[in-house]
Amino acid sequence: MRKIAIINQKGGSGKTTTAVNLAATLAEKKRKVLLIDLDPQASTSSWFGQSRDSKGLFELFTNKTNINDIIVHTDNERIDLIPSSSWLMGLEKRLAQEVGAEIILKQKFQELPKRRWDYIIIDCPPTLGILTINALTAVQEIIVPVEARIMALAGLVQLLQTISVIKERLNPKLRISGIVPCRVDLRTNHAKEVVKELRSNFKSKMYKTAIRENIKLSEAPSYIKPITEYDTNCNGAHDYRLLAREVIKQERK
Ligand SMILES: Nc1ncnc2c1ncn2[C@@H]1O[C@H](COP(=O)(O)OP(=O)(O)O)[C@@H](O)[C@H]1O
Ligand SMILES: [Mg+2]
Repeated sequence: MRKIAIINQKGGSGKTTTAVNLAATLAEKKRKVLLIDLDPQASTSSWFGQSRDSKGLFELFTNKTNINDIIVHTDNERIDLIPSSSWLMGLEKRLAQEVGAEIILKQKFQELPKRRWDYIIIDCPPTLGILTINALTAVQEIIVPVEARIMALAGLVQLLQTISVIKERLNPKLRISGIVPCRVDLRTNHAKEVVKELRSNFKSKMYKTAIRENIKLSEAPSYIKPITEYDTNCNGAHDYRLLAREVIKQERK
């Protein structure tokens, strides 16, 4: 079972869009996916029509529930979900005093059945707080979506530094499986320049796929459908299929 965190501390990078639609395109390729919505804003949960009113994930972190009891099925038979909880907002404060709070999620993962899913994909919040650190401690892999704007590049360097600290202190097996440019507007030189810059700076860490700006991707959540079902032939669906293909290729590693 591969465990992947979708992370970027900048909001609007394309994390949620990537988590949901990578899960959907992996599911098309017969992979079973457990999606975890670790963002209190609950965008992934609402994309699947789930409310964030339950205390589920919050109770997981406060050790009051078993992880298997907070998994819900989605309309896609190959995708299960652990929905977010608005209660997560108060978690940073609550866990600040707690010894070993960074490894709670990793420990909870041990309660999961070993072979039910091929992938666990975690949609992270846009912060580098205790929730994101839990994700980075519990997974082996990271996918970093980056918005194709020059402003996004500085944040990326900071993120890579944080990742190397986590790797050193908490999770030696952690690796970046790939950086993926998102919202690439091919009509502008700016976007093309940024992608070029990313490729020259981060070389082999970059996925070959870039996700183009595609209005369908921003409409799909309102229809409670991943892009593969909302408009199966649009550019967004095409691009996420290419990304899934690259991710699947890494299975052999
Ligand atoms: N490739 C894309 N084309 C068009 N809109 C996109 C694309 N990717 C993301 N968006 C939109 O950009 C906004 C931020 O994306 P989102 O995935 O929610 O980022 P994050 O989870 O990192 O905050 C959302 O409104 C989303 O619909
Ligand atoms: Mg998000």
